[in-house]
Amino acid sequence: MELTTEEEKMLSGEHGRAVQQSMEILCALGKVYGADRLIPVSSVQVAGVSYDNLGEAGLEYLDGLAKDGKVKVLTTLNPAGMDLEDWKRMGIKEDFAKKQLAVISAFKKMGITISCTCTPYFVGNAPSPGDHVAWSESSAVCYANSVLGARTNREGGPSALAAALTGRTPNYGLHLDGKRKPGITAYVKKELNGTQEFGALGMVLGKRIGNSIPLIRGVKEATKEELKSLCASIATYGGTALFHMEGITPEKVDVPEESIEVGEREIKEAIDEMNDQCDPDFVYLGCPHLSLGEIKKIAGLLEGKKVKTEFWLGVARKVKEESDKLGYTKTIEDAGAILACDMCPVVAPIKGRFKCMATDSAKACYYARAKNRFMVRIGSMEQCIEAAVAGKWK
Ligand code: F3S
Repeated sequence: MELTTEEEKMLSGEHGRAVQQSMEILCALGKVYGADRLIPVSSVQVAGVSYDNLGEAGLEYLDGLAKDGKVKVLTTLNPAGMDLEDWKRMGIKEDFAKKQLAVISAFKKMGITISCTCTPYFVGNAPSPGDHVAWSESSAVCYANSVLGARTNREGGPSALAAALTGRTPNYGLHLDGKRKPGITAYVKKELNGTQEFGALGMVLGKRIGNSIPLIRGVKEATKEELKSLCASIATYGGTALFHMEGITPEKVDVPEESIEVGEREIKEAIDEMNDQCDPDFVYLGCPHLSLGEIKKIAGLLEGKKVKTEFWLGVARKVKEESDKLGYTKTIEDAGAILACDMCPVVAPIKGRFKCMATDSAKACYYARAKNRFMVRIGSMEQCIEAAVAGKWK
């Protein structure tokens, strides 16, 4: 891989140990994937934030980088394992909270924006079409590539941090025109409604096409919330970091000959597969984190009601601040639900705490079963809220 004079200096340690270590990671990656050079990135999104995943070794690694490392571009963070301010009311233990705050403090020292969200594009990290970025959260990576038309590989935590500390990433994979072409056409034969059905589509496609890039045809309309749900599930159940959707996503591509069809039956089977026979004691909305529009809708549905289950709404702190100003937070919290900022239920230490979780997210269903050992229910936002109020799934 060819390096510029400046990059050679970074690699030799002239810019400090954190930059040198980062260049070593980027050069190793570039070599493995056959990159010709490093390219500048306009933003970074770092995953691997929860102390639950990082442990002591991860914290030490971050503290080491924070000694002399400073980010060169806008860098935002994925969710942590708790609400950084209101962790007590979520039942998080003090020992965990201390370690989680130490992790956050290392990121802060490096100049990273403590956004703690998987929807950075709602809080000021929204690249333009064609921008090269280095993001690591799988749903956000898919959203950046597919919906925003930016270009990113799915970075690991360390390679995203290395990109942040140098402002560069190796030029391979989804940064290249030739690697962004679809290999299969998916004809959708059912009109999809709501985040749960778009999530189900992602599950069906993910399972059938793995990490191939699909061109999705036949979807007439999709909101940004429905697209974020699709991004989350297609990446979870399959692994692709990019899809094209005719008439909706920005890149113009040729139609691949190989094709599959997804109809009413497949969507229903996917929804059935994500519904265990249980009444929820926990409702979670916000996987990926909620938009302000979704919070407004939830506030409208909860107005004047009381919930019987534990009910968390995952949201970026910046979005919650808007919700506070507009009075949505008060309406939601008067009903007994919580706006949980900065966190994700998958990386929070809540394994086994609940029996049955209701959600509108296919990705949340996957991890609630696999990681938290909960049974799950998937339905529309309306169904989830009805279940929280009734304490029963209808
Ligand atoms: Fe976000 Fe966690 Fe879901 S990171 S996409 S809320 S699994």
